Amino acid sequence: MNEPTTSPPETGDAETGGQPFLTHEKSLTQKIAKGSEAGDILDQQILMLGIQLVTQLNALIKTARIHGRTNAALDKPVEGMLTLIKTLAHSAAVVLRLQNDFLFIGDQHLKVNAQQMAVFSSVIDSLNAWKVGGISFSNEVESKDIRGFAHVFVTGDPASRTLQDLRKELEGHGVKGIELEDPKFLNPAGVKQQKAVAKNSYMSAAGAVGHLTQQAREGGAVGFKQAKRAIQNIVDLLTQDPATLLGLTTLRCHDEYTHNHSVNVALLSMALGNRAGYSKVELADLGLAALFHDVGKCAISLDVLNKPGEFTKEEWQTMRTHPTEGVLTLITLRGIHHVPDRMAAASFEHHMNYDFSGYPKLAVEWKQSVASRIVTIADCYDAMTSSRVYRREPMTPSKVLQFMFSKSGQSFDPVLLKLFVNCVGIVPIGSLVLLDTNELAVVVRPAQDKDNAERPVVRMVADSDGNPVEDGPEMDLAQKTDDGEYRVSIVQLVDNAAYQFDTSRYFV
Ligand SMILES: [Fe+2]
Ligand SMILES: [Fe+2]
Repeated sequence: MNEPTTSPPETGDAETGGQPFLTHEKSLTQKIAKGSEAGDILDQQILMLGIQLVTQLNALIKTARIHGRTNAALDKPVEGMLTLIKTLAHSAAVVLRLQNDFLFIGDQHLKVNAQQMAVFSSVIDSLNAWKVGGISFSNEVESKDIRGFAHVFVTGDPASRTLQDLRKELEGHGVKGIELEDPKFLNPAGVKQQKAVAKNSYMSAAGAVGHLTQQAREGGAVGFKQAKRAIQNIVDLLTQDPATLLGLTTLRCHDEYTHNHSVNVALLSMALGNRAGYSKVELADLGLAALFHDVGKCAISLDVLNKPGEFTKEEWQTMRTHPTEGVLTLITLRGIHHVPDRMAAASFEHHMNYDFSGYPKLAVEWKQSVASRIVTIADCYDAMTSSRVYRREPMTPSKVLQFMFSKSGQSFDPVLLKLFVNCVGIVPIGSLVLLDTNELAVVVRPAQDKDNAERPVVRMVADSDGNPVEDGPEMDLAQKTDDGEYRVSIVQLVDNAAYQFDTSRYFV
């Protein structure tokens, strides 16, 4: 019997009902309280100032769109930016960079909470429109320069002028101390190396799940060391190139469904956590919890777990014990005082659903943790896009998202679900698409411009005659010709499972 479609397959890790979006402030206070390294504290301060700089820049751009450059309405954002620049740029310049749709201050990734998302998206869109890869402010910059910059930035039309034109206009207006950087692309060798590290971490995490599950079945001693190390590597990669990591979730190794599934849920959860503003430490916690969300399945007999046909009613009942069994397993393995809260919660709550319509059913009032809600989304998405879970035919990633949206507010936290779509894209990473040129392509990155979400970046995998193409070119479907027409468009989504098409090889 298939899992009823009203209750999506699997989900969840948890957090003890706190305020997840206040993470930066909280961890800073904790660090200061613990007297940890000064460097760490400084990093946190730079990040906070960087977020303020983006906020002021957004206010500046918005105000300059309405008022002239000498208008007093500009005083506040201009002064705000000046103060932040002077604080941040002691000796060198302060650089605000855009890379892969994320903002960085210097080399540090600026992570934002849900409230700040709109401000960040608006600044990212403005920079993308001009194809600006970064803005460098020297500590010599003056308020007249910032006013001049704002004026030039909002009065020109990016569609008809280039970044070079913009630079010339800044010079023409006598703007000093503000330099515009070209978009930054990773060099091919660096990308290759990153992909190799990503794949190794993936395999290592899958191996760790395999070991732990086997040891749990055999009753041996278990450690989380290997898993922790793999997750740590993934956290580092995530902040650099989330698209490649999400591409890895299309890896399907059919004999090892549960292990692959666990790693995919960890990757997707961490990508979502990253969007929600989790710090690196919290991402690692979330990843580990997500990796072992189904650990309770080791208490279910392999005959049931691997049964090729449909489950009977009794077998479903057994399957539905795995969230509770998971907590018991963790306690048995680690001792009750050594099981991290999030891990226990991820296991226990991942099928509960946002409206508590899932299982286990509780007689007491319960607050589902945010981390569990994240895992719930990641779990359902991976289970439904994969062919193995509950013996159901796989759906295309877009169909899965559509289905999940129909359950927003019921099975899923609506805000987190929206953030999730920002991670995987409305035409999700890994989707196979037919283009109007008759070529076949794989989605490798979500669209940069959120208003143009149906135009992601794709890689060509077969030419118009259907011949496979190795190392095909990447195409940004948002690109237009000189006449303002889109160069290439998606005609339809192709069901890669029906075509037995393995998209994972384009990511590893
Ligand atoms: Fe699961
Ligand atoms: Fe599960």
